[in-house]
Amino acid sequence: MCTRCCPRAPLNPLADVPLVYPRKLDLACTPTPLQYLERASQKWGDGHRLWVKRDDLTGCTLSGNKVRKLEFIAAYAQDNGYDTLITCGGLQSNHCRATALVGAQLGLQVHLLLRGDEPQEYDGNLMLDQLAGATVSCYSVAQYVAEIGDLFAHWQQHYAERGSKALVIPTGGSDGIGAWGYISACEELLHDFTSAGIEQAHIVTASGSGGTQAGLTVGAALHNLPATVWGVNVCDDEAYFQRKVAADIADWSERYPAVDVPEVTARVLDGYVGEGYGIAGPSVFALIAELARLEGLVLDPVYTGKAFAGMLEEIQQGRFSSCRDIVFMHTGGVFGLFPQREGFSW
Ligand SMILES: Cc1ncc(COP(=O)(O)O)c(C=O)c1O
Repeated sequence: MCTRCCPRAPLNPLADVPLVYPRKLDLACTPTPLQYLERASQKWGDGHRLWVKRDDLTGCTLSGNKVRKLEFIAAYAQDNGYDTLITCGGLQSNHCRATALVGAQLGLQVHLLLRGDEPQEYDGNLMLDQLAGATVSCYSVAQYVAEIGDLFAHWQQHYAERGSKALVIPTGGSDGIGAWGYISACEELLHDFTSAGIEQAHIVTASGSGGTQAGLTVGAALHNLPATVWGVNVCDDEAYFQRKVAADIADWSERYPAVDVPEVTARVLDGYVGEGYGIAGPSVFALIAELARLEGLVLDPVYTGKAFAGMLEEIQQGRFSSCRDIVFMHTGGVFGLFPQREGFSW
């Protein structure tokens, strides 16, 4: 057993007390499968068993990690009288697409504030945003970065003046409410581990706004899941994500003071951002193509492709050497593939 980074002792003394979750909606197709990657393990595992938690299968168009967060966020919106959801992200944001579809499913208006000039053609996630009837406002990168707080306030006021009540959902749905999504996913993983005969594992996930990592990190501790959670950052750096994960957990604990807060550390595997957010190098595209052929598993160039590449590199460097099992969290993102089709050389 790995004692360096996989403490087996319960981290949360109150773990035997049932955790009281806030209300959530059933939007995701869960539990998602945990699948063994036999050929990938042989090829890249270096003695490890590689598994994938198929959170890309949480739905068809409502796919990916964001749905788990939105189950709690949308319930909060309903319970507090909101009729409109405003959120933000990149032009190809998976979170914005998921929010657009959840809103349509629940009869809520959705307004997306997107980072980047409006493209001539709507492709991938952006096309689905449009199809779901979301209002889309595009801003130049400079304006978005400088003014996103003001833009949220402006649109919230705009809806208030028209008799609507708009909930602002932060980037990626990553806040104390959204954190519940992956806290509860850890219960699912406990069952998965038992069924698969996994005694101890490393879990690797892509980190973009930190909420998935925050939920998994705190959820693993709360549920005594025998796992060490690692985030591969796809933007910014290790220090940023340590702060962001800590901030999401602090927001969660402030909102739900009745829950005992475990002491946790955010573990970040930095060095795989490449040229920047959303820009993948040829090796990531080659890996996506290779894995698709080897295992029928499709990753994306913005999040999961980089995270998987990072995981393989860290295996080579011996980062996970004392645990046999490694679980890759497949957080979805398939629609982001299509606008980047030129990255593949056939
Ligand atoms: C497909 C996909 N994977 C991973 C992530 C990262 O999740 P989080 O924003 O919770 O860090 C995102 C969103 O940012 C995503 O869209």
